[in-house]
Amino acid sequence: MTMKRNIIITGGAGFIGSHVVRLFVNKYPDYHIINVDKLTYAGNLKNLTDIENKPNYTFVKADICDYDKMLELMREYNVDGVIHLAAESHVDRSIKDPFTFAKTNVMGTLSLLQAAKVYWESLPEKYEGKRFYHISTDEVYGALELTHPEGIEPPFSTKASSGTHHECYGEEFFVETTKYNPHSPYSAAKASSDHFVRAYHDTYGMPTVVTNCSNNYGPYQFPEKLIPLFINNIRHRKPLPVYGKGENVRDWLYVEDHARAIDTIFHDGTIAETYNIGGFNEWKNIDIIKVIIKTVDRLLGNPEGYSDELITYVTDRAGHDLRYAIDSRKLQAELGWEPSLQFEEGIEKTVRWYLDNQEWMDNITSGDYQKYYESMYGNR
Ligand code: NAD
Ligand code: TYD
Repeated sequence: MTMKRNIIITGGAGFIGSHVVRLFVNKYPDYHIINVDKLTYAGNLKNLTDIENKPNYTFVKADICDYDKMLELMREYNVDGVIHLAAESHVDRSIKDPFTFAKTNVMGTLSLLQAAKVYWESLPEKYEGKRFYHISTDEVYGALELTHPEGIEPPFSTKASSGTHHECYGEEFFVETTKYNPHSPYSAAKASSDHFVRAYHDTYGMPTVVTNCSNNYGPYQFPEKLIPLFINNIRHRKPLPVYGKGENVRDWLYVEDHARAIDTIFHDGTIAETYNIGGFNEWKNIDIIKVIIKTVDRLLGNPEGYSDELITYVTDRAGHDLRYAIDSRKLQAELGWEPSLQFEEGIEKTVRWYLDNQEWMDNITSGDYQKYYESMYGNR
C-alpha cells in the first residue's frame, strides 16, 4: 500500500486522541498513523481495540519529553505531519502536582517541536508540505464574567445548541484574539506550550497551527472528568461532588465533532493561524448534572428523581474559572466546520455508551488496566 502521509498523533491513547486516531486511520487508508503515547494513568489502549490491527496504524509507547526518541521517530517514520494532543489534562490534578504539568505540557511540547524542526530542516524540501498542529484549550483565555446568571438567548446558535436548552450567561465570548490570561497550573502550562508553537513559526518558519477548543464530552473520557465520573457514580449510588454552588458555566462539544474539526484544520487550516472550536452550547454545571441524572435514571429504569439525593455540594475548586464560552465563527466561516450533533442527542449517546461499556469503566476504576500495561510495555 502506498503511504501518502506519515503522521504522528501524540496522546492517541487518551480521550480525544483516540477519536482522532480512529477517524484518521479509518478515513485515510493511505496515511500511516503513528500513535505516540506514554500511557500515563490517562492513556488506555482499550480505547483503540477496533483499529489496533489496521495496516496503516502503529503504536509507539514513548514520552514526548524524550527529545532523542522524538527525533528518532521523526526519522524512522519520515514524519511529515504532527497532531499534538499529549498532555496532562485535569485541572484538579494540576492544582496538586503543577510540576508534572509544566514538564509534559511545556517541555514535552518543546521537545516535540525541536525534533520536528531538526528533522524537517535536514530534508532537501525543508518545511514544504509539513505541518505541526497543536491542540489547545479555551482555558488559556481565563474566565469570562457571568453577567446573566438566569440565562439569555445566545447571539449565535449551532446544531449543538439547538435543543430545548438554548441559553448563554454573558455577552462576552472568547475569540482568537482574546488575550491569554490563564488561572490554573493546567491552563498556564497549556498557554506556555501555545506560545512555544507560535514562536517556532515566527522564529524558524515552521508551518504550525493552533486550535483552542471548549470542554469535550463523549465515549472513552477518563472518569475523573465531570460527565463520566457522575455517570459512574450514579450507577454505583455514590455521592456526586458538585464544586461550590454548581453555577460555573462550561461550553460543551461532542468529542467526534472536535475530531472532525481537527481533520478539517489539519488539512485546510491556514498556516500560523489560530482557530477556536466550540458549539455556542453553554451549560451551568448544576443544569448539566440534572440532565445526566435524569438520563442515567431513565436508562437504568429508575423512577424520575431517584438519584437527585446523590447531589452533594462540596468545597469549591481553588481558582475555579466561572465561565467559558467560545466564539467559533471564524472556523465556521473560513473552513465550513459545524457541530453535527445536538447536545441532548450527544448526552443520550454518551450515557448509553458508558452504561453499555461497563467493562471498560470497571477496568479503569479497578486499576487492572495499569497492571495490563506494565506487563506489556514495562513500567517506564
Ligand atoms: P487525556 O488526559 O484523556 O489524554 C492525554 C493522553 O496523553 C493520554 O493518553 C496520556 O497517556 C498521554 N500523555 C500524557 N503525558 C504524556 C507524555 N509525557 N508523553 C506521551 N504521552 C503522554 O486528555 P484529553 O482530554 O484527550 O485531551 C487531549 C488534548 O486536548 C490535551 O492537549 C488537552 O489539553 C486538549 N483539550 C482537552 C479538552 C477536554 O475537554 N478534554 C478540551 C480542549 C482541549
Ligand atoms: P472538568 O470535567 O474537570 O473540566 P474543566 O475543569 O476542564 O472544565 O470539570 C467541568 C466542570 O465541573 C468544572 O466547572 C468543575 C466541575 N466539577 C464538579 O463540580 N465536580 C467534579 O467532581 C468535577 C470533576 C468537576
